[in-house]
Amino acid sequence: MTDTSSAAPSRVATKRTVLMCRPDFFNVVYRINPWMDPQLPTDTSLAVTQWEALYRTYLDLGFEVHLIDPIEGLPDMVYAANGGFVIDNIAYGASFTYPERQPEGPAYMDWFRENGFDVRVPENINEGEGDFLLVGEVILAGTGFRSATNSHEELGRIYGREVVTLELTNPSFYHLDTAVAVLDPSAAPGEANIAYLPSAFNEKGLAVLRERFPDAVIVNEEDASVLGLNSFSDGYNVVIASRAKDFERQLRERGYNPIGVDLSELLLGGGGVKCCTLELRR
Ligand code: ARG
Repeated sequence: MTDTSSAAPSRVATKRTVLMCRPDFFNVVYRINPWMDPQLPTDTSLAVTQWEALYRTYLDLGFEVHLIDPIEGLPDMVYAANGGFVIDNIAYGASFTYPERQPEGPAYMDWFRENGFDVRVPENINEGEGDFLLVGEVILAGTGFRSATNSHEELGRIYGREVVTLELTNPSFYHLDTAVAVLDPSAAPGEANIAYLPSAFNEKGLAVLRERFPDAVIVNEEDASVLGLNSFSDGYNVVIASRAKDFERQLRERGYNPIGVDLSELLLGGGGVKCCTLELRR
């Protein structure tokens, strides 16, 4: 007889709709996070090749993938997650912290408008899904390096959902999506599942995460240091950095199907899988 009591739960994949931006103009010419070093060479065509592998992975998973045209002179536009935050067909626009990325805000808002979303022009500094993650009916919202806490209040007003502020403390994990991965966004209490890096948070944030997600996957420093947490899940398939080996093992144990991709070139800009992906929820 097999003992099923410890078996991993069965996971259910749900088709996702996402927005991506081809890194045709990707480059590292300024430094707004510790990963970026303008002195190091970058290979734009390799970035495109790696990005295309991610794009194909999503298509193979049956995702609906939309593309926004890249703009010359905006090398970070490939990190589509920062372009806004979209739930219930409402697109809350981004207002970037650093002047280098500010023109991306209106560019993404134009795309949302042209594609039938109800656009809300932001009143406060925020970097979209880089710092905001929907888990069940709750929005986890990062602050400390980029998005300002008044944007968390704005979010709550716009979407009528609970917003939980989490303060980030390590400059290498400057966006929430570098420190937390939403694995199973199921709304059922106790079922929603996330992964996170404890050292990226202050005591208060950590207490909140422990209380709300007692069975979260805890990711180690080594996997976090290749932006392993910066992953995208459809509830069963989890697209992760191929170098995040322990995270991969833990995901399998929990009944997920990890799929590794190599975005080493985009890591030079301080981004990974999730950064290149903005979820569109109609
Ligand atoms: N170079 C970009 C920046 O520092 C990387 C953004 C990564 N995006 C993300 N969602 N974490 O703004």
